[in-house]
Amino acid sequence: MALLNLSSSSSSPSTSLPLRAPFAAPFPKHAAFALRAWRPRSNLAYFCSSIRTKATLTIDSPSTGGASFPDGPPRVLLEVKDLKAVVRESGQEILRGVSLTISEGEIHAIMGKNGSGKSTFSKVLVGHPDYEVTEGRVLFKDQNLLDMEPEERSHVGIFMSFQSPVEIPGVSNFDFLLMAFNARRKSQGLPPVEPLEFYSLVTPKVAALNMNPKFLDRNVNEGFSGGEKKRNEILQLAVLQADLAILDEIDSGLDVDALQDVAKAVNGLLTPSNSVLMITHYQRLLDYINPNYVHIMENGRIIKTGDVSLAKLLEREGYRGIYGA
Ligand SMILES: Nc1ncnc2c1ncn2[C@@H]1O[C@H](COP(=O)(O)OP(=O)(O)O)[C@@H](O)[C@H]1O
Ligand SMILES: [Mg+2]
Repeated sequence: MALLNLSSSSSSPSTSLPLRAPFAAPFPKHAAFALRAWRPRSNLAYFCSSIRTKATLTIDSPSTGGASFPDGPPRVLLEVKDLKAVVRESGQEILRGVSLTISEGEIHAIMGKNGSGKSTFSKVLVGHPDYEVTEGRVLFKDQNLLDMEPEERSHVGIFMSFQSPVEIPGVSNFDFLLMAFNARRKSQGLPPVEPLEFYSLVTPKVAALNMNPKFLDRNVNEGFSGGEKKRNEILQLAVLQADLAILDEIDSGLDVDALQDVAKAVNGLLTPSNSVLMITHYQRLLDYINPNYVHIMENGRIIKTGDVSLAKLLEREGYRGIYGA
C-alpha cells in the first residue's frame, strides 16, 4: 500500500516542479506518520486507490425537480438507517438514530447547532476510530459500509473533507497528489504518470480554484490560511472525483471570493452519478451550492428534512422557526 512507499526513503523532497523523475523526490520518514495522523487513512487511502479516470459531464447545478429518468430513477448511493454511535473511549452516545438516503446526482446539506453531531456523523461514515457504531446500518452502493476498513470506504468512492485539515510537514502538495494518483494507477495495473503529464492534469484544477500554482510546491497545508486549506481540500477532491463527497464546514473561514471559488469548483465536479453531502452552519453556502435536500440535525438525530427553503427559514427565524415549521 502506498503508505509504505511514503516511508521507504529518506532524502528530503525536491521543491522544483515539474522537473523531477516520478520517484526521485521521496518523502521523509516522518511524512508517513504525519499522513497517518492527518486523517485516519481514509482520504489518503482514497488517493492511493480510488482516483477515477472516468469521463465526467459537468453541470452548473443539479436539478431533480420534475426530472424524468429515461434510465430509471437514480441509484441510491448511501442509505443510513437508525445509526447510533458512541465515543469509543467514554461510551458517550453522540448519534442517536440517524437516518438518511442519498441518491446519485443529489446534493444534501446538514445544518444544525454546534455540538448537534454533524461532524461525528461524517466521521462515522468514513470509519473514524474515535467512534463505535452501536446500532443501525449504513449501505454504500448496496455494500455494508460498517464492515469496511476506512481505506476500503475510500476505495469504494467516499471522500471526506475534514473541518480542520491537518498540516503535513515535508510533503509537497504535488508529491502527495502524484503519489496518490500513481498508486491508484498501479492498483489498476496502469503505468505511473510522469510528473510533467500529471502537472498538466492538475494545473487546470488549481487554476479553476483560483489557487496560486505555487501551492503545488508547498507542503500539504503547512502555513496555509483557513481559506487556503479549504481550497486545498477541494483540489484533492477534484483530483479524486469521488462518488460521494462529504464536505464538513467547507465554508468556514472563507471570504466571499474564496467561497465562490470553492462553490464553483464543487458545482463543476458534480455529475449525474455522484453526490455531495455538505455540512454547514450558514445559509450563505447554499446561495452558491443549491442542495436538493436540507436536513436539520439536533442532539444526534435528523429532526427535520426539507428543501432549501428550510435553510432560508433557519436563517430568517432561527431554530424557533424550524421547530414551528
Ligand atoms: N471524540 C470525541 N470525544 C468526546 N466528545 C466528542 C467527540 N466527538 C464529538 N464529541 C462530542 O459530541 C458532540 C457533537 O460533536 P460534533 O459532532 O463535533 O458536533 P457538530 O459538528 O454538530 O458541531 C459534542 O458535544 C462533542 O463535544
Ligand atoms: Mg462540526
